[in-house]
Amino acid sequence: MQVIIDQYLCQACGICGDVCPRHIPETLVNGNKKLTAISKNRAELCMECGHCVAVCPNNAINIENHKKDEFFSIDRIDIKEDQLLSFLQQRRSVRRYKNRKVPREIIDRIIDAVHSSPTGTGRMLTGITIIDNFEKIKKLSELLYDAYEKLGKTLRNPVARLMIRKKKGKNKLLTLQNFVMPGMEWYIKWYREGKSNEIIRDCPALILFNSPINEPVGAENCLVAAFHAVLMARVLNIGTCFNDLIPPMCNRVQEIRDLIGLSEDREVYAGITLGYPKYNFKRTIPRKLAEVKYLD
Ligand SMILES: Cc1cc2nc3c(=O)[nH]c(=O)nc-3n(C[C@H](O)[C@H](O)[C@H](O)COP(=O)(O)O)c2cc1C
Repeated sequence: MQVIIDQYLCQACGICGDVCPRHIPETLVNGNKKLTAISKNRAELCMECGHCVAVCPNNAINIENHKKDEFFSIDRIDIKEDQLLSFLQQRRSVRRYKNRKVPREIIDRIIDAVHSSPTGTGRMLTGITIIDNFEKIKKLSELLYDAYEKLGKTLRNPVARLMIRKKKGKNKLLTLQNFVMPGMEWYIKWYREGKSNEIIRDCPALILFNSPINEPVGAENCLVAAFHAVLMARVLNIGTCFNDLIPPMCNRVQEIRDLIGLSEDREVYAGITLGYPKYNFKRTIPRKLAEVKYLD
C-alpha cells in the first residue's frame, strides 16, 4: 500500500506518524525546517488502516486504492452514555422469528455497519454470505442435521473419539460430548419429528462470516464483524442470534461448502440468524462478569 504525502498541504505536524501503528510517516527536523515523509524502511509494513488520512488536519495524505472523497468528514454524534448502556443492556439474543422475510434493503443497512468493523491486521479480508432464500435455508438445514447425526454416531465410537481427541484436542472433544451433543440429540429428534428446527431456528435469513484460513486472527475478525451486524440489526428492529452450530459444519461438509459457495482457502468462523422477533422481551437480565479487577 502506497502512502503519499502532499508536501504542498502538509504542515509537518507529525500527527500522522504518531497515530500510525508502525510510525510509517516520519517527521524529520533540520534546524527550523520540518518535513514529514514516508519511512523507506517501513513503507512496506503499512496495514492499510487509513488512520493517517483520517487524522491529518490538512487533508494532505492519499493512500493507494482509496480516493480522498471516500473519507467523510466527522460530525460529532451525541449519544448519551445512559442511552448506549441501556441499548446494550436491552439487547437480547432472538431465537424465535416471525414468518416474515427481511427486506434486502434492511439487510444491506446491516451490512453497511459490518463494513466498518475493525480487523486484527487492518486488512479487509473478511467475507460474508447472506442466505435469505427459503429453499437454500431448508437445504442447509437438512445437511446440518445429517452432519450432526453423523457426528453423534462418530462420538459413540471409542476409536473415533480418540481420533477426534488427537486431531482437535481434549477440550474440543469435551465440548462436543458435554455441551453440543446433549442438546443436539433433542434438536435432531424434534427436527425429524417435524416439531422444530433448533439449529437454524426457522430464521428467514442468516449471515455467515468467513475469512482466509491463513489470515491471522481471522476468526476473531469474523466475530467482531458479526457483533457489528447484531448491534445494527437491533437498531433496525431485527432480532439476531449468534449461531455456533452452523460454522463448523460449513467448513467440514463439502456439500455445505458447495451450497454456500465457500472457496477452499476460506473458513466460516461466525454465523448469525436474523429475522423479525416473534416476542418482545419485557425486562433486562442481570449479568455480571466472572471477574473485574484493577491491578494497583
Ligand atoms: C460467540 C457466541 C456464540 C453463541 N452461540 C450460540 C448458539 O450456537 N446458539 C444459541 O442459541 N445462542 C448462541 N449464542 C447466544 C448466547 O447463548 C447468548 O448470548 C446468551 O445466552 C446470553 O443471552 P443474550 O444474548 O440474550 O444476552 C452465542 C453467543 C455468543 C457470544
